[in-house]
Amino acid sequence: RSPRYRLEVLPPDAWAGHVADRLVERLTARPTLRICLPTGDTPTPLYDALVGRGAPFGGAEVLLLDEYLGLSEDDPARAGERLRRELIDRLADPPAAYHPIDLAGPPDQAAGRHDVLAAAGLDLTLVGIGRNGHVGFNEPGSDADSETRVVALAAESRQVAEAYGASEGPRSGITLGLRRLLESAEIWLLATGRSKAEILARALEGPETPQVPASFLRRHHRLTVLADEAAATRLTGRPSS
Ligand code: PGA
Repeated sequence: RSPRYRLEVLPPDAWAGHVADRLVERLTARPTLRICLPTGDTPTPLYDALVGRGAPFGGAEVLLLDEYLGLSEDDPARAGERLRRELIDRLADPPAAYHPIDLAGPPDQAAGRHDVLAAAGLDLTLVGIGRNGHVGFNEPGSDADSETRVVALAAESRQVAEAYGASEGPRSGITLGLRRLLESAEIWLLATGRSKAEILARALEGPETPQVPASFLRRHHRLTVLADEAAATRLTGRPSS
């Protein structure tokens, strides 16, 4: 059967600008957009491009996708600070509200508070894909109805945190659950680089399975996959299910 998602493949040097242009279009069409954003190496060039374009975030609300637990407040890997550093603080027209994950108090209560913010409704959710198939910190084993929660990080995610400069490899995190993400009116799955090619093909063309949580994004009726040519090299255009 033909895929129900929309796939856009860009040359690597055009990817960030293209995604930024699309997002500026959305913000212009709906200035009060409620948008969920990720951190990581994938979106960094996108955030540069949004800043360069003077993206009109002024009426928008930005919610963070996930966060590490157990890192000191000034740790450079902290997602809330990273998004602030790479995007929010650099925007000439910053969002009306920015919601990093507020870690005050017990972690399960922090997850609960962030879930309430997301439950108020997301117009657009941008997510990356981990090399292990995770979405946010919905690690392998997460089902499509998984809740916003405190999670143990997979080994792969701990290594990535260290690559992001975390002083100690965090063992847990908080993530919006797949159930909440799938409630978003629209989802954009971002994938760049050769290191994502195999997992992107499994997510889009392999079976829907908790072993590859990103495969559940295909259940969404408005999923757009924005990949660069390197990440798209293993796609055949033939989903298995
Ligand atoms: P990356 O992380 O953008 O740094 O590759 C993606 C992820 O692990 O979700």
